[in-house]
Amino acid sequence: MRRSVWNWLFLASSFCLALLFMVLVWQETFPEWKGYQAQYYRRLADLTGEPGKAATALAIKQVHLPELGRVDRCMTCHMGIDNPRMKEEPQPLTTHPDLGIPEFLAKHPFNEMGCTVCHHGQGPATAAAHAHGPVKHWEQPLLDRGLTVGTCATCHEDLETLRGAEVLNQARQKFVSLGCIGCHTLKGSGMLVGPELAETWDKSTAELDFKYIQGEHTVARWVYEHFMNPQRVVPGYPALGIPETAMPNYELTEEEAEHLTALVLSFSASETVVPLKFKVRSGPAAPEPAYASTVERGRALFIRYGCVGCHGPEGRGGVRNKNMEPAEEVPPLTYVAGGFTRQELKDTIANGRYPARADANDLAPPLWMPSWKEKISEEELEALADYLLSLSTEG
Ligand code: HEC
Ligand code: HEC
Ligand code: HEC
Ligand code: HEC
Ligand code: HEC
Repeated sequence: MRRSVWNWLFLASSFCLALLFMVLVWQETFPEWKGYQAQYYRRLADLTGEPGKAATALAIKQVHLPELGRVDRCMTCHMGIDNPRMKEEPQPLTTHPDLGIPEFLAKHPFNEMGCTVCHHGQGPATAAAHAHGPVKHWEQPLLDRGLTVGTCATCHEDLETLRGAEVLNQARQKFVSLGCIGCHTLKGSGMLVGPELAETWDKSTAELDFKYIQGEHTVARWVYEHFMNPQRVVPGYPALGIPETAMPNYELTEEEAEHLTALVLSFSASETVVPLKFKVRSGPAAPEPAYASTVERGRALFIRYGCVGCHGPEGRGGVRNKNMEPAEEVPPLTYVAGGFTRQELKDTIANGRYPARADANDLAPPLWMPSWKEKISEEELEALADYLLSLSTEG
């Protein structure tokens, strides 16, 4: 009796092993991509009336871009990507969308550029889950639809007028008008109160704290959620003396946060070295507009240097600065005409200042008045002073 149970067990386990072996052989012989290619050629034969392809003619397709350090095999499955006949077919066989730009496909030949230069993803992979990601040890999974536009900056310098990249330009205008540059440097220019933004996208996920991130652990997700609510993502570790982030919560809509995320991607994308034939240079920069008065010039400088980032639009204040005396807020500047001489204003801007703590035992306020001496000319200082002195009298 007992012996026969063991016999049965042995038989069953041998059977399982044999089955497993067969599955592995099957996967090797008929990988995912072969299924899509067979489907593609069958469909093509239906559409053209030409005979289909034999199973032996299926092969991995790839674009090798040594200058970019890339090997893209995405077209191994995305077979119809540049074949207009496949327009009506489902993914992954269908034609690439043209974004409403008739020459889009012709100007970006996929057999030269590949795919990952725009989409990210793991180029050499031949299984969809690995190619799209996210996967461990590959820091650039396929970008969500809506973020791809950020990589246009890899080759295009002029993003202000580029068709198909309008949302990037809107985000850039927001970046300027909100004064991000008052707290951040971008390729070195600006203020280093917060991190350099051209390096953010290239950070590894190990460099970012994902403790408060819901969903996938990707840089894209972190940046997006941080825009939606900086204090939730970076609440600090007060017990260790690390304060919560001083980055303002702009109460962005999901769409605005997504566009700003694409903008952050574009900052690092624009630093990528690409072969000259791919680079689309911008024309000469527009000359600085003529201002009707030094007050107008000062207003423009107040935006350009990012004073808005800490003092609010038109210097109206409202930016939180924890534990700063007296109101835990960076001071508004609408009253300075009553309390400062022109020289005092110029000195404050030139030399900067550290604010006093409201509670001497609590952490120092995270925001301070930076020194602009090295960045602003005497003439610009005068214009800024003119503008600030005009503020209270205006309203
Ligand atoms: C093994 C086959 C395979 C490979 C290799 C592959 N894909 Fe796909 N891809 C698919 C399939 C199937 C879909 C549709 C289903 C889905 O979204 O997963 C798809 C969908 C997509 C989509 C649309 C996603 C969406 O949100 O609708 C994009 C973009 C894409 N792939 C890009 C790429 C890029 C870039 C690569 C190369 C890095 C790649 N794919 C490699 C099979 C593949
Ligand atoms: C010049 C940049 C560029 C290149 C190169 C490029 N794409 Fe795209 N692709 C885009 C943009 C932009 C979209 C629009 C959707 C988005 O923003 O993600 C798109 C859309 C798609 C979609 C449809 C996604 C959807 O949601 O409907 C697929 C699939 C796709 N691309 C696959 C590929 C594959 C495969 C390659 C390489 C053979 C490739 N792309 C090369 C920029 C590019
Ligand atoms: C790998 C480099 C590369 C990337 C990435 C890239 N482009 Fe291009 N693009 C080119 C080149 C090269 C041309 C051809 C320029 C010419 O003909 O002078 C071009 C031309 C164009 C044109 C037509 C000419 C023009 O300047 O108006 C449009 C529109 C365009 N690209 C939009 C986009 C959009 C939108 C993206 C991002 C989704 C993008 N490109 C990403 C290289 C690139
Ligand atoms: C009042 C100062 C201030 C302003 C204004 C500000 N930030 Fe920040 N930002 C910070 C600080 C401080 C950090 C670092 C702590 C953190 O991660 O929240 C930060 C972090 C970031 C990060 C994460 C960067 C990284 O590499 O970890 C991004 C992205 C970012 N800010 C983008 C922006 C953008 C875009 C704007 C304008 C819409 C902006 N910031 C305005 C102070 C500011
Ligand atoms: C990173 C944040 C930040 C940026 C950017 C910034 N400021 Fe300030 N500013 C402060 C803080 C904080 C104070 C308060 C200092 C104190 O209490 O000693 C201050 C104080 C001032 C004061 C003195 C007002 C008072 O009531 O004491 C002036 C004037 C001023 N800033 C002008 C500017 C101008 C002009 C710019 C742009 C060129 C600018 N600030 C950019 C943070 C900033």
